[in-house]
Amino acid sequence: MRKRVIASTSLALGLCLAVPATTASATVAGTHAGPGAPGIGDPYYPTYGNGGYDVSHYHLGLDYQPSTDRLSGTAVITARATQGLTRFDLDFALDVSSVRVNGRPARFATSGEQELVITPARTLHRGQRMTVAVTYSGVPSTVEKYGFTSWQRTPDGGVAANEPESAWWWFPSNDHPLDKATYDVTVRVPKGEQAISNGLLLSSRSHGGTTSYHWRQDRPQATYLATLAIGHFDITHSRTRTGVPIINAYSTALDPKIKANAEASVERTGEIIDFLSGYFGPYPFDAAGGYVPNVKSGFALESQTRVFYSPKFFDDAPDTSVVAHELAHQWWGDDVSLKRWSDIWLNEGFAGYAEYLWAEHVGKSTPQESARKVYDSHPADDPFWTVKPGDPGPSKQFDDAVYDRGAVAIQALRDTIGDHAFLRLLKAWPAQHRYGNGTITEFRHLAERISHRNLDDFFQTWLYTPSKPASFPSGH
Ligand code: ARG
Ligand code: ZN
Repeated sequence: MRKRVIASTSLALGLCLAVPATTASATVAGTHAGPGAPGIGDPYYPTYGNGGYDVSHYHLGLDYQPSTDRLSGTAVITARATQGLTRFDLDFALDVSSVRVNGRPARFATSGEQELVITPARTLHRGQRMTVAVTYSGVPSTVEKYGFTSWQRTPDGGVAANEPESAWWWFPSNDHPLDKATYDVTVRVPKGEQAISNGLLLSSRSHGGTTSYHWRQDRPQATYLATLAIGHFDITHSRTRTGVPIINAYSTALDPKIKANAEASVERTGEIIDFLSGYFGPYPFDAAGGYVPNVKSGFALESQTRVFYSPKFFDDAPDTSVVAHELAHQWWGDDVSLKRWSDIWLNEGFAGYAEYLWAEHVGKSTPQESARKVYDSHPADDPFWTVKPGDPGPSKQFDDAVYDRGAVAIQALRDTIGDHAFLRLLKAWPAQHRYGNGTITEFRHLAERISHRNLDDFFQTWLYTPSKPASFPSGH
């Protein structure tokens, strides 16, 4: 569900240039039709996402076999053509056996690392509704693209969670946060296993030796925020203060000490959502929670309404700062998503700053103290300062500097515009872009409107200059 057309000229240009000049085009009912672009125009990842259509819903009907890690099923994608289309791409890495477009068999081929190129039997006209059914199977843990895999196999199942890409390993999509959509995910697993995904669990039904879980995400969701986990889990149910249902899941195979630390942290989800709502406004979704599978990786991901946590966070002690970080992303990244990956500061800077706010709430240190500590601990010649949080480059998208310098920049912004404007800004951004997308430039404009200041120099210094800002503004 793309809320608005791409506003930035660089993105628009990327889209045009991505259409090969030599491809044949056709005229349908007087409108020009051609192939959809193989990328949505992201400056960091030119082949990610696609052009020519806008997805509104993914309906995934899947089967998973933990003993072999085989995933199979059919994805039914509801979309609308945004141009006349002789063919179009989806992003996907598993093996496809058939494709139908609006009920008719369609030709398909693979190209590049993750492109599934589909040629419908009939050219689609601009504005036409399209239903694309893709039938597929594969062993996702064996699939490597661009040298990485985003599917982690566990002793009793598997997990899809990563950023910026994880959908390729489990469903075909227009894989870019610009094209958000709603989801129905039905997964059939052997009886005794569970399948966890985003949103609300509508049903779980056993039949013979299998159980089928039906999850629904009924708010727009970026593709990388869709998650799937299969395994044996202990499930807990609770609610936020405003009544939002919380479902958390903990792998039963975790070391008991780690599991206890994980529960002591993730069970505070409701309390932390209540706290963050005070800063960011109403929690945007109708479900919440997280899961801790039995994986070896060491990261967390803000998968929408159902955060993925590596057990590594809970090895030694409970850790609520990672919970505050991932829950802050529900506003900063999930509710309001990026238009392009170069604006990653809007996600990680604010999730990092939420850790400062939470630390203050639990009586550790003030945000000003947390930020000052980071600023002082990196001398001017530290390579830390060479990363521009506002445009770190694809290889540094998740560099510490994006998180830490990014969060310090937010404290500097607070000190520059004052608490009153800053606190208004934190609520105004999600309110203005609810379920949509935004850019750093749009954020700056909002900050300028609310604070009645020109912040051009401030943003240049803190987000776009590869050196240490000369001074750290002192508090008000
Ligand atoms: N957005 C995630 C976070 O909250 C970062 C995920 C980075 N991906 C990875 N494979 N390490 O920090
Ligand atoms: Zn983060």
